[in-house]
This record gives sequence, C-alpha cells and structure tokens, in this order.
Amino acid sequence: MRATTRNSTRQIEPDSLPQPLTDTHDAAPSRELSLLAPSFMHRHVGAVVAAEINRFADEDPVRILDIGCGDGRLLLHLYNLLKQTHPDLRVELYGLDITDPGVQNVGFIRNTRTNLQRAAPEVDWGARLKMVAVSDPWPFPPGCIHIAVSNQVCEHVRDHRAFFGETFRSLVDGGISVHVFPLKHYLLEEHLLIPLVHRINNHDLLRHWIRAASLLGIGKYRQHRRLYGHDVATFAARHADYIMLYTNYLSARQLASVVKACSMRLSFRYTIDLYLSKALSLLGFTQPRAYRRSAGGLCDWLACWFLRYLSSVTVFLEKSDAYNGPGPNANARHMSLRRHLVPSGVQE
Ligand SMILES: C[S@@+](CC[C@H](N)C(=O)[O-])C[C@H]1O[C@@H](n2cnc3c(N)ncnc32)[C@H](O)[C@@H]1O
Repeated sequence: MRATTRNSTRQIEPDSLPQPLTDTHDAAPSRELSLLAPSFMHRHVGAVVAAEINRFADEDPVRILDIGCGDGRLLLHLYNLLKQTHPDLRVELYGLDITDPGVQNVGFIRNTRTNLQRAAPEVDWGARLKMVAVSDPWPFPPGCIHIAVSNQVCEHVRDHRAFFGETFRSLVDGGISVHVFPLKHYLLEEHLLIPLVHRINNHDLLRHWIRAASLLGIGKYRQHRRLYGHDVATFAARHADYIMLYTNYLSARQLASVVKACSMRLSFRYTIDLYLSKALSLLGFTQPRAYRRSAGGLCDWLACWFLRYLSSVTVFLEKSDAYNGPGPNANARHMSLRRHLVPSGVQE
C-alpha cells in the first residue's frame, strides 16, 4: 500500500459511483444485494465515521479498515454513505477477517467478495479484503489506516492485546478506531437471549443454566428446535460450548487495561448517540446519517456506566499523544509492541 499523499483535487474513486443499494435504491434489490442491507449498528458506526472523517480532510486517500468485516455489510454501507456525505473525499475501504474456524462458516469470505463485487463493482474487493490467521500480524504496513472500525467483533476476540496492538500499529498518528460491542456487564446475552450466560465460567453450570432457561421458554431454544430439530440437551451442549469457546467478553476495567497497554486513548464517545438513535427509531424517526462530532465528556462516561448493562457500547480510541507528540515516540511505542506481538521474520 502506498504511503498517504496529498492532492488538491480529490474525488471518491471517480470510476466508482454506482447507485446506493440500500434505502434509497429505486429498483427492487436482488436477494443477494438485499442481504447486504445495513443493520441499525452498521448505520451507527457509519454515523460516527461520517462525524469524524473531517479530521482527515487533507489526506488523500483516507483509508478505513473494517476489522472482522464478516459479510461486508458495514463496508458497503460506509461506501454508499461516504459517497453521499463526503463526495470530495477519496476513501479507500479495507476489510479484514480471520481464517480460523469459529464464528463464521468456512469459506464465508468468498461470498463476501462476490456480493461486494456485485454491489460495488468499481472497487477491486479481491485486493481490499484481507484474511489472516488469528495469531498472525495484520497485512498492513505500520501507520497506514486513518480510521479502523469493528462491529460486534471484540466480544469474539480471544487475544485483545494482540487485536488492539495491531490496531495501534496499523493506525496513522492521530488515527482513530471505533468499536461497537457489548461488555461483560450486560445482562441479557444477545446471541442466546438468556440472561448472564456469558458470566458463567463453569461449563457444567453453564450447560445446566442454558437447559433450564430453555425449558422455561427463555431464549432461542424454541426457534432452534423448529429450524434444526435439536432437542434441549443438544441445544444446551452446543451453546454452552459456543459461549465458552467462541465469546470472550471484557469488563470495562479489563478493556481500560488492555487499551492502556496498547498506548491508546480510551473513551466511550457516541455511546449516548447509539441509545438516543435507537429510542428515536423505535418512535419512528429516521436514524441519523451522521452525528454531530462529539468532544466526549462526563455525559458519555455516565451514559456508558448505565447503558453497558443493556447492550453494546461504543469504544472510541485515539492514537494520539499530546504529551510527547507523534513521530519517533509513537514509533518507539510501536516497536516495543511489535517485539511483544510479532514473530521475527515477518515482512511488512
Ligand atoms: C458477529 S460477526 C460480525 C461481523 C460484522 N462485523 C458485522 O457487523 O456484521 C464477528 C466477526 O468477527 C470476526 N473475528 C473474530 N475474531 C476476530 C479477530 N481476532 N480479528 C478479526 N476478526 C475477528 C469473525 O470472523 C466474524 O466475522
């Protein structure tokens, strides 16, 4: 990837201006494309990015990375949104996901690539989507990404130190990352819709609790029985393993500690906007395309303190150091992180 350069006349990938495929598309979308319609959370991440991207108004291109991009819906939403809100910015979107089996079906990225290519054919998604093994460093040179985002990923990450360390390494000085995910504090685990399953560390207890809750009619068991014909013991055994092996919730304290170890500023900016726009959309209002840029503060912290018990929070990280400044100091921090994270001999 080239280093960022400046250019006075900037456009968003000039050859890449297809019609939006989401809400504003005139024609009825095909089934594959309608599968790529953004969720409420994708629109929230988009509204944060649209609020913050002006920080990088002098950069050409502005590089945005979606970590744990899954089926590519967030990437497509950002693509369509930023064309509308920032037509003068040239934006390059990248997606990263992991090859290790777990949350996604084997080979899912082929579908992601095919669907994105069909929806936004002007972009070479083959080159923009990157896959790595979970223990590998990310395939980006240091300091090349302006904005990193992730949606519903961090609660699945096994090694958060490596995850945020690679985020720090990939970001430019002054870069930001925005991660929307639930903390360990929330009460109703959203994969199973059973309270507190994610807080139980004993597998036997976990299996018994999933079984008992399912028999009481709590959670997704009935739906699974209808769809897959599973009995309650099979459902409980499979999902106890899912929770124990494929989720890894952080408390706010653990998050603060891991982010600090990776030398980034932590705040919960825009968490309040997430819940306000949820409330407004429940009342029938349209979700905002872009938020007003937030400076953060007490309200955000207080909102997060309460709202973390309900659902996801917005974790806002900045790679900035007003004390020592950017440049060699950031590089030194980067090198000390690299020693910790990267096996020797890896090419960048
Ligand atoms: C619940 S899906 C969310 C997908 C997508 N972000 C969305 O909003 O629809 C979680 C994604 O995180 C990915 N993932 C899990 N651990 C990861 C890691 N350590 N690094 C990058 N991606 C990871 C999974 O492969 C999966 O695609």
